[in-house]
Amino acid sequence: MKKLWGGRFTKSAEEWVDEFGASISFDQELVMEDIEGSIAHVTMLSKCGIISETEADEIKNGLEQLKEKASNDELTYSVKLEDIHLNLESYLTELVGPVGGKLHTARSRNDQVATDMHLYLRNQVQVIIELIGEMQQALIEQAEENIETVMPGYTHLQRAQPISFAHHLMAYFWMLERDKERFIESVKRINLSPLGAGALAGTTFPIDRHLSAELLGFEGIYENSLDAVSDRDFILEFLSDSSILMMHLSRLSEEFILWSSQEFKFIELDDSFATGSSIMPQKKNPDMAELIRGKTGRVYGNLMGLLTVLKGLPLAYNKDMQEDKEGMFDTVKTVTGSLKIFAGMIQTMTVNKQHMEKATKTDFSNATELADYLSDKGIPFREAHEIVGKLVLDCVKKGCFLGDLPLEVYKEANPLFAEDIYVVLDPVTAVKRRNSAGGTGFKQVAAAIEKAKEAMKTS
Ligand code: ARG
Repeated sequence: MKKLWGGRFTKSAEEWVDEFGASISFDQELVMEDIEGSIAHVTMLSKCGIISETEADEIKNGLEQLKEKASNDELTYSVKLEDIHLNLESYLTELVGPVGGKLHTARSRNDQVATDMHLYLRNQVQVIIELIGEMQQALIEQAEENIETVMPGYTHLQRAQPISFAHHLMAYFWMLERDKERFIESVKRINLSPLGAGALAGTTFPIDRHLSAELLGFEGIYENSLDAVSDRDFILEFLSDSSILMMHLSRLSEEFILWSSQEFKFIELDDSFATGSSIMPQKKNPDMAELIRGKTGRVYGNLMGLLTVLKGLPLAYNKDMQEDKEGMFDTVKTVTGSLKIFAGMIQTMTVNKQHMEKATKTDFSNATELADYLSDKGIPFREAHEIVGKLVLDCVKKGCFLGDLPLEVYKEANPLFAEDIYVVLDPVTAVKRRNSAGGTGFKQVAAAIEKAKEAMKTS
C-alpha cells in the first residue's frame, strides 16, 4: 500500500516497524472528531476561495458517507496507514476520487490531531461533569434519609466524636462539587482551536482560522501556531483533575470497604454491586469499591506518564506526543465507569442505622462532651480535659464506658458534675448540639443539604 507521504521515500518499512509506529489501534476512537474537524476545515477552505464550492461539496459528501459508515461500524483500518487521519483520507479519496486530496490543503496532521483531541475532550469532560452530578444527587438522597443517623466519627481511624452519617456523606458531596468546578473551568482552555496552525508555522493560504473555530464551536483560537500544535497541557489538566477526583473516589471506596466489613457493619452493599468467592460460600466482597481504589493508581500513572513524555520535548510536534492518547482514553473510561458505579452503589446500599448508633454507645467518643460540660461551668478547658481523661482511664481499667460510671464517681472527680451529664453523654444529644456553621448538628446538616441542592441547580 502506497504511503500518503511516500514521495521522497525509495523503500518502505517492514510491517513490524510500521506497526510499532502506528496509532490506529487506539486513535480510531477519534474517528467522529476527525471527520467533524475535516468538514469544518473544508467548509472554511471553500468560503475563503481556496477550493471551489463544488469541490468542497464533493469532499463533504464523502465525509458524510464516512460518518455514516463509522457510526455503523463499517470502517476497517489499516496499520500501513498509520493513524486515523491517514486512514480516513485514504477512504475519502477512494470514495470521491482525486479531489479528496484537496482536503489536506493548508492543514497538517499536527493541527489536525490536536483539533481532534480538543473536540474529544470537550465532549468527554461534559459527560464527566454530568456523571459527577449524578453521583452528587445519589449522595444527597442517601444523606436525606440519614440526617439523624448517628455514627462514630474518626480521626487516626480511632473513634473521635459522634457525627451524623449524612454529614459524612455530604463531605464527599462538597469534594465532588470542587472536582466538578475544576472540570467546568478547564473547558475554557480545552475549547480553543489549534486548526490552521499547520505543521508549526501557519500557512501561506488565506485561511480563516476564526471561521473553522466557530464552525467547530470553539470559543477562540490558539494565538501562536507553535503553541497550538505543541500544547498538551489541556490533556495534563484533564488528567490532573481526574487524578484529584479519583483520589476522592478512592477514599470513599476505602470507607465503603471498611464499613461493609464484619468489623464495622455500618453498611451493606447491594448484591448487584458485590461479588462472591469461588471457595468461601459466605463471602460477599466489595469488589467494585476495591477496583475503583485500585484504578485510581492507573489514572495517577497516566498523569505521570504524560508529564514525563512532555518534559524534555523541544517545540513543536514530536512523535513522542502520539503517546498522549492511550492514557487519556483510559482515564476517560476509568473515570466515567467509576462515577457510574459509585452512583449505583450509593443508591442501593443498605445503611445499618441501629448498628452505627450502637457503636457510638460502646466507645469514648462522647468524652469531649464531658470536657465541654465542665468548661461550660467555668473550668479551663485544659483542666477539664485532664479530669475527663482520668475518668476515661478509670473506665478502661474497669472495662466500662463513661455512661456506666455512677454520679458519685463523677462528683468525686469534680463537684460541678451533676445528674444532667447522662443526657450530655448521649451520642444523639452530642451530635444534635454541634450546631456551629458547617458542623454535624442535625439542623446544620439539614441546612447544608438544602445548600447542596441549590449548588446543584447553579452548576
Ligand atoms: N498519529 C500522530 C499522533 O497521534 C498524528 C500526528 C502525526 N504527525 C506527524 N508529523 N507525524 O501524534
